[in-house]
Amino acid sequence: MFITFEGGEGSGKTTQIALLREWLERRGFRSLTTREPGGTPLGAKLRELLLDVRSQVEPSAELLLYAADRAQHVAALIRPALQAGTVVLSDRYADSTLAYQGYGRGLDLAALQHITAFATGGLQPDLTFFLDIDPAQGLARRAQEGALNRLDALSLAFHQRVREGYLALIAAQPQRWVRIDADQPLAVVQGTIAAVVEERLVLGRA
Ligand code: TMP
Repeated sequence: MFITFEGGEGSGKTTQIALLREWLERRGFRSLTTREPGGTPLGAKLRELLLDVRSQVEPSAELLLYAADRAQHVAALIRPALQAGTVVLSDRYADSTLAYQGYGRGLDLAALQHITAFATGGLQPDLTFFLDIDPAQGLARRAQEGALNRLDALSLAFHQRVREGYLALIAAQPQRWVRIDADQPLAVVQGTIAAVVEERLVLGRA
């Protein structure tokens, strides 16, 4: 099963993935935690380029760098793990491109879908959690934790468009997505995620 986590900055995805991984292990499921950008050695280099505030990157180049990271990630890590029966948990995946480069930057959505399909060979997640947080609150959280990356540093209006983009993606494919209010206590968010995974995975309804 391939599970992805999406959300704005400061939505708590990374913490929730770690908690889900522990939960899966307690139930005897082998899992792999990874992220985009940066899930492979090549991706780690691309991540540095993409998130460095000093990088000057045109929107089209930004898109293709994320796509290159994803192509490597799917071929070298995600597909082999899924074939070995491992549950893959990814902190971001293709929906981030639609939300950030599509709705945020304003690139053509149909073009993004073609490029993404090429990069992934059509691999789609079985389940995607959207940890929904008010962008102003999320950015404030992120700023408290440390330095903002190149995309964090974009305007609040950009991050609001990203959130609207996610909501549009959810409306288009509601069966794949679960939206969770991330402004709830950690344990409540984790309980919701675990309950959904239990239903889809443990009861074999994925
Ligand atoms: P994060 O995963 O640590 O939040 O940082 C990744 C940043 O990259 C985040 O601002 C979202 C952005 N991003 C895109 O713009 N497009 C993509 O396709 C992906 C995977 C991430």
